[in-house]
Amino acid sequence: MKFFVDTADVAAIRELAELGMADGVTTNPSLILKSGRDIVEVTREICGIVEGPVSAEVVATEAAAMIAEGRRLAAIAPNIAVKLPLTWDGLRACKVLTGEGFMVNVTLCFSVNQALLAAKAGATFVSPFVGRLDDINLDGMQLIAGIRQVYDNYDFRTQILAASIRSVNHVAEAARIGADVMTAPPAVIKALASHPLTDRGLDQFLADWRKTGQKIL
Ligand code: E4P
Repeated sequence: MKFFVDTADVAAIRELAELGMADGVTTNPSLILKSGRDIVEVTREICGIVEGPVSAEVVATEAAAMIAEGRRLAAIAPNIAVKLPLTWDGLRACKVLTGEGFMVNVTLCFSVNQALLAAKAGATFVSPFVGRLDDINLDGMQLIAGIRQVYDNYDFRTQILAASIRSVNHVAEAARIGADVMTAPPAVIKALASHPLTDRGLDQFLADWRKTGQKIL
């Protein structure tokens, strides 16, 4: 499973990339707002840190304008994936931009049928939003499983990018189901290393080690 980092925080991306934990990055207009930086400038910097796909989202809502914005964003760096919303216009823009050889991430996917359309429009990635479905008492993971099944049934090549990942349990579950990629905030990725039994076991080992009076170095 590939790990994308869901942030426009350059320092956090750099820290994870150094450990090989950032196979790509996803941003959106809310994350650009949070960064307080210019979209082109911060996206270019991120593209220099990670080799993999960096999603940058258009804000136009009509296909022709989405295509124009997508081309502008794609010109920032070769590893840009143009992020388009899962609307009819977004699908039209997806078809054109993938036809021109650009990577496209179709975002804000909330149903298997929407994911089917994204695959048929040639999307490189489809982003089902797990956490936002859970927020309204629906089952986000069930959507990931449904899309996995349908894509496998018909051998669609579009990669399932589990998005709106809010917890370590989401990550494990998406991996079990076979999502190709997950994108999560840096704090969730770092929390994957935590386990109370690891902490307790380490405390015990260190306490016993002190009692031996020995040193390794
Ligand atoms: C994905 O590409 C989105 O940027 C992100 O995962 C949305 O997450 P949220 O629902 O926690 O805002």
